[in-house]
This record gives sequence, C-alpha cells and structure tokens, in this order.
Amino acid sequence: MFISSVFWLLLLSCSFSFGVESDINCLKSIKASPEDTSGYLNSSWDFNNNTEGFICNFLGIECWHPNESKVLNIKLSNLGLKGQFPRGVENCTSLTGLDLSRNRLSGDLPHDIDRILTFVTSLDLSSNSFSGPIPAKLFNCSYMNVLKLDNNQFSGNIPAEANQLTRLRTFSVANNLLSGQVPPFSENNASITADSYANNPGLCGYPLKPCPSISQKKSFNVVMVFKSNGVIMVAAAGFGIGFVFSFFFFF
Ligand SMILES: *[C@@H]1O[C@H](CO)[C@@H](O)[C@H](O)[C@H]1NC(C)=O
Ligand SMILES: *[C@@H]1O[C@H](CO)[C@@H](O)[C@H](O)[C@H]1NC(C)=O
Ligand SMILES: *[C@@H]1O[C@H](CO)[C@@H](O)[C@H](O)[C@H]1NC(C)=O
Ligand SMILES: *[C@@H]1O[C@H](CO)[C@@H](O)[C@H](O)[C@H]1NC(C)=O
Ligand SMILES: *[C@@H]1O[C@H](CO)[C@@H](O)[C@H](O)[C@H]1NC(C)=O
Ligand SMILES: *[C@@H]1O[C@H](CO)[C@@H](O)[C@H](O)[C@H]1NC(C)=O
Repeated sequence: MFISSVFWLLLLSCSFSFGVESDINCLKSIKASPEDTSGYLNSSWDFNNNTEGFICNFLGIECWHPNESKVLNIKLSNLGLKGQFPRGVENCTSLTGLDLSRNRLSGDLPHDIDRILTFVTSLDLSSNSFSGPIPAKLFNCSYMNVLKLDNNQFSGNIPAEANQLTRLRTFSVANNLLSGQVPPFSENNASITADSYANNPGLCGYPLKPCPSISQKKSFNVVMVFKSNGVIMVAAAGFGIGFVFSFFFFF
C-alpha cells in the first residue's frame, strides 16, 4: 500500500512537468476519433473553455485533482461510440482507468497497447465488436487489476504472457471466438474461474477441461475409427437384412 502510494505520488509529480496540454490533446483526439453516434461527447466536451481543470467537468472524465487538467479515469460506457479503439488515449499519460464498455467499437486493438495504457489498472472493453487477436503486449501493462474483454469477437489464443499480470483480480474473455490453452494463472486464484472463459469455441486447460495432449488425440482418433467402423458394420448388416426382407416382400 505504502509503496504503491509513493509510486503514484512520484508518478503524479513527474507528470506535472509534462503539463496538461497533453491530456487536453488526448481528449480532443478521442472526441475526433470514434463516431459519436448519440452526440454525447459533441455536446459535453467543449474545448473553448480554457479555465484550468475545465476538462474535469466533461462527461465521463475524472481528474487527479479538479483544478488540474490531468485525467485519472475515462468512463465512456454505453454512449453509442462507433469506430476503432481511440489511440489518442496515449496522450492521457497519467490515466489509470479506461471504460469503453457497451459501445459499438470494432477492429483490432493496437498491437503496442502497452505504450497507450502503461499505468492503467482497470480496462473494460466488454460488449463491443473488437476483433482480431488479443495483443500479447496488453499483458505488459503490469498495473492491471481488472481486465474485461468479454462479449467481443476476439479470436486466436490468449497469449501465455497473461500470467505476467500478477495483480490481476478480475479477468473475463467470455463470449468471444478464442481457442487454445488458457493462461496458467495461479490455481488458487478464486476470482478467475471457468466463467471468465465461458462461450468460446475452443478454450481448454485449468479451470476448464484439460487440453488434449498429442498422444491423447491419437488414441481418441483410434477409438473413433474403431467405433465408426462398428457403426458402419451394423449399418451395413441392417441394410443387408432390410434389403433381404424387402426382396422377399416383393417376390
Ligand atoms: C456537434 O455540435 C454542433 C453544435 O454544438 C453541431 O453544429 C454539429 O452538427 C454537431 N455534430 C454532430 C456530429 O452531432
Ligand atoms: C469553464 O469551466 C469552469 C470549470 O469547469 C466552469 O466553472 C465554468 O463555468 C466554465 N465556463 C464556461 C463559460 O463554460
Ligand atoms: C482549487 O480551486 C479553488 C477555486 O479556484 C481554490 O479555492 C482551491 O484552493 C484550489 N485548490 C487547490 C488544491 O489548488
Ligand atoms: C499525442 O500527442 C502528440 C504531441 O502532441 C501528437 O503528435 C500525437 O499525434 C498524439 N497522438 C495521437 C494518437 O493523437
Ligand atoms: C514490456 O515492457 C518492458 C518495459 O517497458 C519492456 O522492456 C519489454 O520489452 C516489454 N515486453 C514486451 C513483450 O513487449
Ligand atoms: C491470484 O491470487 C493470488 C493469491 O491471492 C495472487 O498472489 C496472484 O497474484 C493473483 N493473480 C494471478 C494472476 O495469479
């Protein structure tokens, strides 16, 4: 607790020197990038007011301090936002939380997402239409506590690097198109359960059922061949008898 407070104080004092211009650019870029189908950002995010800390009153924006334009959290859930992941977030350099859940965002996540979300502890991208792979570098965001990617169309494997996130408490990739082995998170981690992975076509490994090893796959195939031969033989015999009966019936 103490160490992390010291860390955040250091981070905060470092970021003073970067000025607030960067964070204002960040929000300008976010306003410009996703299509704001409901017009919420268009009406609430007014950049013509130059009072220090003016962005802190914007819809969905929380600042470190109300008098200073330094963004702590961005919470833009369920605003009808459409388009790609807003890359401009990289200029909110002290951001710790990003919630873009329940919008209509799509496309791949940036592969260098660790540069964009370096200090983020909570990322919620759930219930959008993001697709493509989950970038391995997402798991280089080492402060991540909460990572919600559920209800999208992510495909491919979950990168094994996921277990680098030692602070992770909430993790969900349910309802995607993922396959392969799930990350080897600590097995005594009660919060990462089978529900975290539900409704993906091909995930396996603890806490799901074990992944078939290569030798198990072979013997499984052998059994299948044997069984299906049996079925073919029975079916052939049945057909033969039926054929004989109908033959008798006809003549
Ligand atoms: C944004 O708001 C301005 C006026 O505040 C309006 O002229 C413009 O059409 C709006 N744009 C969208 C995309 O809603
Ligand atoms: C500008 O922003 C400040 C701080 O958020 C607010 O108190 C003030 O009313 C705003 N002024 C205008 C003209 O919107
Ligand atoms: C924040 O701004 C208000 C009003 O301008 C002022 O009274 C207050 O002292 C400021 N707080 C800090 C910590 O700068
Ligand atoms: C971030 O800010 C820098 C400097 O202002 C700018 O050149 C860059 O394009 C911004 N990034 C994005 C993705 O908007
Ligand atoms: C993760 O971040 C560290 C420090 O920024 C960097 O040295 C390392 O190469 C990164 N790893 C990956 C897989 O990007
Ligand atoms: C899971 O919980 C354990 C024990 O509470 C913790 O040490 C670990 O960092 C947590 N996260 C992961 C990803 O294992």
